[in-house]
Amino acid sequence: GKVAVLMGGDSAERPVSHMSGNGVLAALRSQGVDAHAFDPSERPLSDLKAEGFSRCFIALHGRHGEDGTVQGALELLGIPYTGSGVMASAIAMDKVMTKRVWIAEGLPTPRYKLLAAGQHAREIVRTVPDDLGLPLIVKPAREGSSFGVSKVAGYSGMLEAVTHAAQFDSDVLCEEFIDGEEVTCPVLGEGEAAVALPVIRIVAPDGNYDYEHKYVSNDTRYLVPSGLPAHEEAEIQRIVVQAYRLLGCRGWGRADLMIRASDRKPFLLEMNTSPGMTSHSLVPKSAAATGLSYELLCLHLLAGATL
Ligand code: DAL
Ligand code: MG
Repeated sequence: GKVAVLMGGDSAERPVSHMSGNGVLAALRSQGVDAHAFDPSERPLSDLKAEGFSRCFIALHGRHGEDGTVQGALELLGIPYTGSGVMASAIAMDKVMTKRVWIAEGLPTPRYKLLAAGQHAREIVRTVPDDLGLPLIVKPAREGSSFGVSKVAGYSGMLEAVTHAAQFDSDVLCEEFIDGEEVTCPVLGEGEAAVALPVIRIVAPDGNYDYEHKYVSNDTRYLVPSGLPAHEEAEIQRIVVQAYRLLGCRGWGRADLMIRASDRKPFLLEMNTSPGMTSHSLVPKSAAATGLSYELLCLHLLAGATL
């Protein structure tokens, strides 16, 4: 039947979604799938039903795409879709909710403070570095692709960083900075059958893996195989699969982590339930290292589409 590749959307990550979606669309078509682009920000999702689409590949990122809302609408329409369901999508979109789940189960994630709407005032912001130390990371609780993220070096930078993050989300997450190596690890499957793909080590210029170094420049190096000792890679994969299962993810996902330089301890930063599929993106690079091409990865994910 007809497959809709959902892309675009109305989040800050709309341009990234176009890159992901166009890649997925071309890949599915090259494999003989009757796939069509569909942008839920331009027309109602109920058109999917009217136009006879039987499945959706979700290539949306961020709010109204990766956060359970589109997933819920597709549930109501009865159209199977790729990736996580409503609950896992909603929790994973929110980095604070995600931390609460992981911390409750003893998984390692950097210490944090949540500044909810109305708590962004100067005097509150000043106390955060006392608790978390400096430097620290400030980010919107529900955003992707590094939008609104700052690394704060001193007390004087706090208010500006919080104000910047608050432009993307009223909930601002302040997080202990983990000095070390940045890694990412995709997961495929669901529950007991969930498996980790190879870990990728990300080496960005000056350790600054921001939007520019994610999607625009070619200066970032992606190491897969990661070059990490085998026991470290295995430990990261074990933690990531546990983190994925705890959130109730299915289909696919990608956890981002830091490995602390001082003691080599891995810390989970977040779980992405609709990972990027751009030409610069990480899941395709990791899959390719196991012999799974971009095209076959897309087919595999589509085959797992469910309600
Ligand atoms: N949020 C972007 C798309 C990613 O995690 O790949
Ligand atoms: Mg993310």
